[in-house]
Amino acid sequence: MAPPRGRSELLDVLGEPRLRGRDLLSINDLSADEARLILDVAARLKRSKFDETQTLFAKGQTLVMLFEKPSLRTRVTFEAGMTQLGGHAIYYETRLGQRETVPDIAHNLERWVDGVMARVFEHKHVVDLAANASIPIINGLSDLEHPCQALADFQTLIEHKGDIAGKKLAFVGDGNNVAHSLMLLAAKLGVNFSLGHPAGYEPLPEIVERAKSDASVSGATITLTHDAREAVDGADAVYTDVWASMGQEDEAAERAKVFAPFQLNANLMKHAHKRAIVMHCLPAHRGEEIAADVLDGEQSVVFDEAENRMHAQKAVLALVL
Ligand code: CP
Ligand code: NVA
Repeated sequence: MAPPRGRSELLDVLGEPRLRGRDLLSINDLSADEARLILDVAARLKRSKFDETQTLFAKGQTLVMLFEKPSLRTRVTFEAGMTQLGGHAIYYETRLGQRETVPDIAHNLERWVDGVMARVFEHKHVVDLAANASIPIINGLSDLEHPCQALADFQTLIEHKGDIAGKKLAFVGDGNNVAHSLMLLAAKLGVNFSLGHPAGYEPLPEIVERAKSDASVSGATITLTHDAREAVDGADAVYTDVWASMGQEDEAAERAKVFAPFQLNANLMKHAHKRAIVMHCLPAHRGEEIAADVLDGEQSVVFDEAENRMHAQKAVLALVL
């Protein structure tokens, strides 16, 4: 890394106290201002990737990455991100609660390392880690939420659409972990969120209730519909995710039938704004939840989202560790 010319725009972030020591289990752990702070730091880190000030944020610090499920993006971006911030990451594949209790794992880890990122089946497990460890716990995907994904996605939305307040983000498909985190962040940041989903695959009522409450403050709208076209109508960004999440593989055949009318394809995209961006957290299944020509088309920003996983998570690490 070459030294920056002039004063580094990262110096102000070094002593930033607002999120120090905090967990990120849910988007609900952040106020709107705190979410904006993370997105601002993420943009700065992205702009100044050759600034050696970056290596001061996690100098001498270690992050443990617990994985109960597979990963490409989360694993590589957290590990490379820690390296770029001057620290180190340990990959640990496990099933939480099987060999020893989650509190015992937390009490061990807090004696050795500076933070934990965990990808778990049950959201309760990240909550239990956080309740029993004095170090920051970051949710790298649970059955309830995927907050790091939503932060990276909003960084991407801002890059492509500028001022996002009042813009419309549509999600078509399952009311799942990714939909939950996107809905909660949209509500906080004043982005109108519309979810088109089949009956029986709703987001959790308590998530919708919280999003609506935050939306009443930010001025956003939260809309749920069983009509994919209505969801996408006039949207500035259209998002989808797999129909069967990790752990739901045995439901895949049934879900493929139910979700077929919600495929994100060129016909559906005709209902969005003509300059709408196409978003997907990846991995994608071409020909299932998204048509190949849409995923690989010129409106697609899916690899920007993947890149921004790195920057958004580095911002989280820089602020909480
Ligand atoms: N989007 C995402 O979380 O990707 P991985 O499952 O590869 O980490
Ligand atoms: N909803 C998907 C997201 C994968 C990144 C899952 O939980 O498997």
